[in-house]
Amino acid sequence: MNIILLGPPGAGKGTQAKRLEESRGMVQLSTGDMLREEVQSGSALGKEAKAVMDAGKLVSDDLVIGIIASRIEQPDCGYGFILDGFPRTVAQAEALDEMLKKKGMTLDAVIEMKVDDAALTERITGRFTCAACGQGYHDTFHKPVQAGVCDKCGGTEFKRRADDNAETVTSRLEAYHAQTAPILPYYAARGMLKSVDGMAEMGEVTRQIEAVLG
Ligand code: AP5
Ligand code: MG
Ligand code: ZN
Repeated sequence: MNIILLGPPGAGKGTQAKRLEESRGMVQLSTGDMLREEVQSGSALGKEAKAVMDAGKLVSDDLVIGIIASRIEQPDCGYGFILDGFPRTVAQAEALDEMLKKKGMTLDAVIEMKVDDAALTERITGRFTCAACGQGYHDTFHKPVQAGVCDKCGGTEFKRRADDNAETVTSRLEAYHAQTAPILPYYAARGMLKSVDGMAEMGEVTRQIEAVLG
């Protein structure tokens, strides 16, 4: 099964994608994570992306389409994938249709995670992840059971994203409403769009997604 998790910054796409990886053996394809790896490695592509990401704007369609096109050819994607943060423009949605058709793959569902803008800033500015295993946490909504120790791997180092400050969040939300929200009608017109209540607590959101996937 191949799906898209669609929603604004902080909606919970990454949180839910990780849960689906564990429960269903699907693979999470996060263009944000892939771009951050490029930035980390200091590659030419990473250098190009960094300034744009720090400003809370979208990197070019060609760049992310290229990344996804080569990633979905990897054998692990044959078990089903969760697109997280892609597509983000109508041009990316069209390119995705084209590449899936070429590769004989299908898209089973597009799940919109609805969250009020007001809740997103708090979610994003409180977010941190385990430096060793990538497990996500939140200062208020999801603290490690033992403070300072990762529940999953026992790691004690945590990191925060460079673009997770209140100022950049405003630009990211603007980019979502102006450039990404227009893909909702694109998928609605194809009868593929399903919605879940992203304001609910994490376990309830998971249950609603599981109900859509059947
Ligand atoms: P990306 O990494 O995709 O960031 P984003 O879309 O802004 O989304 P986030 O990762 O911030 O949020 P999320 O929905 O994953 O939420 P999470 O689960 O972490 O993109 C970053 C940048 O890369 C972009 O700005 C752009 O520059 C570039 N980029 C990436 N893809 C691109 C593309 N396709 N085209 C062009 N440019 C691209 O949850 C957030 C927090 O809330 C966590 O702390 C979590 O614990 C908590 N939380 C989660 N669910 C709940 C809940 N139900 N209740 C309470 N708290 C919750
Ligand atoms: Mg994410
Ligand atoms: Zn960890």
